[in-house]
Amino acid sequence: MRADTAAIVLAAGKGTRFRSELAKVLHTAAGRTLVGHVLAALEPLGLGQVVVVVGHQADAVREELAASGLANVTTVDQTEQRGTGHAVQQAVPALADGIERVLVLPGDAPLLTTRWLEQLLDDGAAHGGAMFTSRLDDPTGYGRVLREDDGTVTGVVEQRDATEEQLAIEEINAGMYLFARSGLAAALERLDDDNSQGELYLTDVVALQAEAGTPLAATAAPGEVIAGVNDRAQLADAAAELRRRHLHHLMAEVGVTVEDPTTTYLDVDVEVARDAVLRPGTILAAGTRIGERTVVGPHSHLTACEVGADATVESTRADQAVIGDAATVGPFAHLRPGTHLGSRSKVGAYVETKNARLGDGTKAPHLAYLGDVTVGERANIACGVIVVNYDGQVKSHTTIGDGAFIGCDTMLVSPVTIGEGAYTAAGSTITDDVPDGALAIARARQTTKEGWVARRRGTGG
Ligand code: UD1
Ligand code: CA
Repeated sequence: MRADTAAIVLAAGKGTRFRSELAKVLHTAAGRTLVGHVLAALEPLGLGQVVVVVGHQADAVREELAASGLANVTTVDQTEQRGTGHAVQQAVPALADGIERVLVLPGDAPLLTTRWLEQLLDDGAAHGGAMFTSRLDDPTGYGRVLREDDGTVTGVVEQRDATEEQLAIEEINAGMYLFARSGLAAALERLDDDNSQGELYLTDVVALQAEAGTPLAATAAPGEVIAGVNDRAQLADAAAELRRRHLHHLMAEVGVTVEDPTTTYLDVDVEVARDAVLRPGTILAAGTRIGERTVVGPHSHLTACEVGADATVESTRADQAVIGDAATVGPFAHLRPGTHLGSRSKVGAYVETKNARLGDGTKAPHLAYLGDVTVGERANIACGVIVVNYDGQVKSHTTIGDGAFIGCDTMLVSPVTIGEGAYTAAGSTITDDVPDGALAIARARQTTKEGWVARRRGTGG
């Protein structure tokens, strides 16, 4: 726990280069908002307080923060965006008594990790504070770090304010800092807007700290940790890096086989258990959980699903579905919200389910629509069955008992109840309940007209 340390997260900017109606920090990468990623990296640090500076779409950002469920998070408003220094000025008065150290982070840096933040905290503790710097092949756009001959950090100069000579500096300012609260507060009072953008630059605090005899330490961090997201190309790059890390974790630490990481897309909150296999073209989103030894894909897209152990889910689209142990799903199944498949159940090709509960061992191997239905255990839903759940005005529910056999091409006009072990004949349109153990036939009888074809052509007897 670091109760004496707070974080200020800067999230008031518009993100002009996104060309979006939506505030930049609310765009998502690998299933989480940009600001959500920053908070997730902060969470394990156990900080005393997190203050998020909001401005553009402040209400929407506040809602997102509330939804993230993090404790200790409050917001302050920066109604006019007058620079990063100005943003921090809004937040400092909100710091609680007892806060002595302050992390300042941008809200658009989703690749930050807890481990690197711990490094910053450690380096900062030994100095007046610390800042992340990085050496980039292309430092364009970033502030450059100024140092004395002995290496002491003396300041940061923004790209737009830099001389030719300063532009040649490869070491950039990541815009992430740890300050002593007192030093930060003193320096913020001395900021001015005497620069090319007429803004209050937080970066000027770096020089003021050096002048006060408490220069910041520089913590060198890799570009793929400190990278900010300023446009949609960088958003895609960040998402790819987040997915790469997540898949690497699953392979290295959990023991999941990922046959082709380049075509496997997992949100960061997806959990996959040991010895599961993710086949190519698999997309797992929104907290989906996959059990041990289950094989998913090729080409399955699961959103907010819970899949048990030893199941197979091939070429399937599923949303908010629960799939039991050793169930077999697909290829070409569509499981819609409210689907609940029991263990050893089977849902095969061209079967669509919605608000459908199939008991253990129940099978619907091909071509069916199962909407608003509860099916018992070991039932058989043959090819072409439709639960007619909608009469154009209201949806109704159908119940099918254990061990029932619903013949091919049966229409079950809801609401209707099929008893345990009951049969329906192929091609039946069932409108009345069928008792346990009964056979229901509901179709016109066949008439066969011998010689009809020849008679019509006028050639025969
Ligand atoms: C800043 C640094 C630069 C550094 C770079 C790293 C300054 C002056 N420059 O530049 O040295 O290399 O980050 O990415 O700090 N924000 C507010 N309110 C404001 C202005 C900004 O909340 O009034 C927020 C933005 O939403 C963003 C963060 O602060 O999340 C950084 O602002 P941005 O304008 O992106 O700074 P850079 O120009 O990238
Ligand atoms: Ca930026």
